[in-house]
Amino acid sequence: MNVLVVGAGGREHTICWKLKHSQIVKKIFCAPGNAGIGLIAQTVNIKVNDISGLINFVKKNRIDLTVVGPELPLTLGIVDEFRKRKLRIFGPTKAAAELEGSKVFAKEFMRKYHIPTAPFQVFSEFPDAISFVKSAAMPIVIKADGLAAGKGVIVAKTFDEAADAIERMLLKKEFGKAGEKIIVETCLQGQEISVMAFSDGKNIRVMLPSQDHKQIGEGDTGPNTGGMGAYCPVKFIDDSTMEFVSEHILEPTIAGLEREGRLYRGVLYAGLMLTESGPKVLEFNCRFGDPETQAVLALLKTDIGRIFSATAEGNLSGTKIEWFPGSAACVILASKGYPGKAETGKRITGLRNYTDKKCQLFHSGTRKEGKNWVASGGRVLGVTGINHDLKSALGSAYDVINSIKFDGMYYRNDIGFKANLQIKTVGI
Ligand code: AMP
Ligand code: GLY
Repeated sequence: MNVLVVGAGGREHTICWKLKHSQIVKKIFCAPGNAGIGLIAQTVNIKVNDISGLINFVKKNRIDLTVVGPELPLTLGIVDEFRKRKLRIFGPTKAAAELEGSKVFAKEFMRKYHIPTAPFQVFSEFPDAISFVKSAAMPIVIKADGLAAGKGVIVAKTFDEAADAIERMLLKKEFGKAGEKIIVETCLQGQEISVMAFSDGKNIRVMLPSQDHKQIGEGDTGPNTGGMGAYCPVKFIDDSTMEFVSEHILEPTIAGLEREGRLYRGVLYAGLMLTESGPKVLEFNCRFGDPETQAVLALLKTDIGRIFSATAEGNLSGTKIEWFPGSAACVILASKGYPGKAETGKRITGLRNYTDKKCQLFHSGTRKEGKNWVASGGRVLGVTGINHDLKSALGSAYDVINSIKFDGMYYRNDIGFKANLQIKTVGI
């Protein structure tokens, strides 16, 4: 097959890298990609939201399968447009991608299908939301309904913080349309994990669990980012908890979507809180997580080209998915200022090809200036260590990081610090 990957980050670099190892993949294109992706795939200068541009490219270049990385084109309906034209594509339809595109839809869907999640209320009027929060217990969580680049969730410790978030969303309209409706929900306590599954619209294949590190600072401090690192698998989730996640969260979600005629052929990502009374959904994403993908796919043994094909065709029932033993851990190298305004344009030194299989480098935001590599984004590189256990995987990643340098380079030194926790989830 000739495959087109849509996206430009570390997640898409990882997908291209796995496709490179597929027995059934001939040529890999990536739109728009980045300079690092350009080392293993042919990059194409088309934006992820230029759906007609992507369709034209696919037709002209005899692309057999398109794989969509980010949520934006999915929520814009790229899959529906491709399917109308009988073009094969991996990703949920617009109606199914609403699970990520609208948190109000996702929460009401979960309530309807009894999928465990935090209790919540929806508001669109400022006074109603304020009077509800006045009598609610703190902390409390305020969420903008629509896509808000990871900034639409505020965990408020006091009434004043909650009121401020509500004011910014409903009165000041800082989030535009995304903040016209808000969710006010109970704050859950526990460990956060990510579980992704391939779904062909009926059948699912659950991937190994992983844990992201959303906050910028060590020890999970400071503002949220897109993710500063991830490791896989997560040993503190036992088999029975994974079975619960599959049976009570992932399967009913896909079954509910199918019942409502919302076709889901792609990756369903559940962000979960492992609470004392069992796993509960914090959020759904309609795509691979970033940087979870850089750790999870590093352990995938089965040919990803075959998995993508079977998923896109609605044919996963005959596909068995196997994993390599051991652990993988991805550490993100970011530019100074991230997650605020990042300083870009800094020259990167120390990049080379890592061929010992214990480390893979995934580019999130790099470009070439002549012979030099230059940082071009907030998240710049993901360094994934792969080894027989988590400690050695992290060692492999941090060893390589020691040789990479750019002005203002920042990374967390504590990825995986919660991996040895003993978690007791009861009530499941
Ligand atoms: P979301 O974009 O919905 O995943 O929310 C971003 C982050 O906010 C999550 O990763 C959690 O750390 C936090 N969060 C969201 N909902 C809750 C909740 N109900 N209780 C506690 N933390 C939450
Ligand atoms: N790492 C979290 C996400 O991809 O949304």
